[in-house]
This record gives sequence, C-alpha cells and structure tokens, in this order.
Amino acid sequence: MQEKDVIIIGAGAAGLMCAISAGGRGKSVAVLDHANKVGKKILMSGGGRCNFTNYYAEPSNFLSHNEHFCKSALSRYTQWDFIGLVEKHGIPYHEKKLGQLFCDNKAKDIVNMLLDECSNVGADVRTHCAIEQVEKTEQGFLLTTSQGKWQCRSLVIATGGLSIPTMGATGFGYDIAKQFGLTVLPTTAGLVPFTLTPSLLEQFEGLSGTSADASVSCNGESFRENILFTHRGLSGPSILQISSYWKPGDSIQINLFPDIDLFQALKDSQQARPKSHINTLLAETLTKKLADRLTDMWFGDIKDKPLAELSNESLQRVAKQCQSWSLKPTGTEGYRTAEVTLGGIDTDEVSSKTFEAKKVPGLYFIGEVLDVTGHLGGFNFQWAWASGHACGQEL
Ligand code: FDA
Repeated sequence: MQEKDVIIIGAGAAGLMCAISAGGRGKSVAVLDHANKVGKKILMSGGGRCNFTNYYAEPSNFLSHNEHFCKSALSRYTQWDFIGLVEKHGIPYHEKKLGQLFCDNKAKDIVNMLLDECSNVGADVRTHCAIEQVEKTEQGFLLTTSQGKWQCRSLVIATGGLSIPTMGATGFGYDIAKQFGLTVLPTTAGLVPFTLTPSLLEQFEGLSGTSADASVSCNGESFRENILFTHRGLSGPSILQISSYWKPGDSIQINLFPDIDLFQALKDSQQARPKSHINTLLAETLTKKLADRLTDMWFGDIKDKPLAELSNESLQRVAKQCQSWSLKPTGTEGYRTAEVTLGGIDTDEVSSKTFEAKKVPGLYFIGEVLDVTGHLGGFNFQWAWASGHACGQEL
C-alpha cells in the first residue's frame, strides 16, 4: 500500500499544474495516468507548438452553465503567472495573433517544464497506471490500480474531456462523479469542424484547402477569422469557435465581406467599371477559385452580364447572399477531431474556490472534466493551469 496526502488522476495540463501547486506547499503527491506518456494533448496542441495561454484571457472567453464559476481561479492564477513560469524556464515563445502565445520550438518544452517543476517538489508522476477502483474510506480514498493499492486524504480528478479518444481521453471523470452522486451535464464536442450535406459537398468539390476571412454567427455569437473548406465540410478558426455555440438543426450565418457594405461597393464598381463581371469583383476579396464557384452556385443567371446591365435588385441579392450566407451543417466531426468537450461535471456541485465536491469532502475536480470550456486561442490551457493551481493551494 502506498500512501500520499494527495493523489491526482490524470497527468495532463491541469493534473501536473495541481501537483506542482500542492507539492510546493509540502504535500506528498502522486499523479497517476493510464497513458504511456504524460501531457499528450499538450504535445499535440497548437500544431506541435502549444498555444499555452492568451494575453487577453478573461472570464468572457469561457462557456459554462454557470458563467461566474471560472472567475475566482482565473483571477488567482492568470496568464501572466503562467508566462512568468515559462520565462523562468527560459522557454522561447511568441505571440502568433490575437494574443495567442506559442512556443518558438516545441510543445515538449512545456511538458518538460511541468515535469521539472513536479520533480522539484517531489511529486511522483506515474504513467501506464490503470485505475481499477476508487473507494471512499474513513481516512480518504483507496485506489486499486494496475500499480497496486494507493491511499490518500485528497483525491483530485483531472482526466479531461472526451475529445481525441486515440490520445487516451476517457469518460473516467464523469463516471467517478456519477459514482459519488454528482450531476454531470450533457457533453458534446466543441471547437470542432462542421460536416455538410452530400449535395453541398458536391458543390464545394475542389475547394478543399481554400480559406476566406469571414465573420461567422450563430445564436447571438459572432467570430471573425478564417473559414476553411475541407473535404468533409467547413473548418478554420471562426468555424471552430462558432461550433461551441451551435446546436443540431441550427443554421450559421457567414459574412464573406465583413469589412464593407458590399451593395455600396458593387454600386460604386458599377459606375467605375461597368464592363466588369460579378465573379471578378468577388475575386478582389475572395480567392479566384472561391469567387468563381460561388458565382456559379448563386448567381448563374447574371454571371455573364456586365455590371452595367445589373439592376439594383440583382446587386442587393449578391450583397445579401455573400454577407448573410445561411448554411445548415448536418453535424460536426465529433470527438474524433474536436479540441474540447462542452458540458461535463456541473459546476454547481463543486466549490469555485477549492474545487472540492460539495457533497464529497476530499474529492476534487479540475480542468476540462468540469463544465467550463474556453474559446480557441490558448484559453483551455489557461483554465487547466488556473484550476489546477487554485485547487493545489487548497489541498
Ligand atoms: P488533459 O486531456 O490534458 O489530460 C487528461 C489526462 O488524464 C491525460 O493525460 C489522460 O491520459 C488522463 N486520463 C484520462 N482518462 C484516464 C483514466 N481513465 N485513467 C488514468 N488517466 C486518465 N488548448 C489550448 O489552450 N491551446 C491549444 O493550442 C490547444 N490545442 C489543442 C489541440 C488538440 C488537437 C486538442 C485535442 C486539444 C487542444 N487544446 C488546446 C485543448 C487542451 O488540450 C485541453 O483543454 C487541455 O489539455 C485540458 O487539460 P486537462 O488537464 O483537463 O485534460
């Protein structure tokens, strides 16, 4: 039997940060993970360079049933605290865009940093450790694992969400929550590409890899970045962002000309270049391939006419279609490619200060397993660092 003050299940972003935080306060800590490597999602994140935080992280970047829940932890361990840690370890980084911070070299720099910090505070980090059973005892918790029995006063669940099952994601955290009578809110894939109907895919054939700067809206939210045509449907940052607000059956609205009044621009062009055609004008902003395809799809009846011959009504139709293109995805690519899981353990069940389950003293939940989901751009890691740190300070 091995005994620790604190056992953390899940050696991902939140679990490792929690170990550093609790270990730094003199607690004996073990981190147990069933995978063959720690921090696999950190390693694969940000195209291998890990978008580890965001200069502009704040509570409004997070979705949750309780929008206030994330505030306390985010204010106690901010992006500046994590940047300080990165700088202490001499890890080179840069801002890519919109406050998103990436490693100059490899995401492995972040994992090595976390493991160095764990080792400094004497945390025992184990991989290949399958958790077979968790029982509550008078002293705390008893764990039966593939590496023997473990006992602890405090048990922290940091097993993340369901996205990318091939990377070791499981519903373990939700199962433990249910075992102890806590509510788990329905989960769905977030930050995920959309799939489209076969007929739309046919119309978009050959566009795979084409992108456009667009503003995408759904359910009162709007994001402005690139959209990307794929062979399954639509992806790109603004699509991934809006996917977290989309529900099955909803349409999304895409504005392919977010900076201008397109009708006015068409009217001006009608005066200045009366012999031009619609596809030529659209290609001044969109790629030629996309402009030609959309013109064929939407404006076949007027595409061969010069602007001078087009009525105001026709120009209005062009502007409306391009600036509020309404499209109904058939679904998403699901957990296979999603970056995060929406929903999860109901935050009403957990203290926002300590992350302890209100009904089960000694049991804690941190990171993505909770019903807190960040926007794209380094916010999900910031939540993992902040919740892990805050919990570690209270163990
Ligand atoms: P995380 O998933 O990191 O860790 C959970 C750990 O628990 C894993 O090590 C897993 O093996 C372990 N585990 C699971 N089940 C277990 C079980 N039954 N027994 C034992 N151990 C178990 N975010 C961001 O801010 N910037 C970015 O650049 C990216 N990029 C990105 C790319 C891709 C492809 C994905 C899938 C995700 C991202 N994210 C991201 C999201 C980010 O990776 C995610 O939100 C955090 O890793 C969540 O941290 P957690 O520690 O909560 O879970």
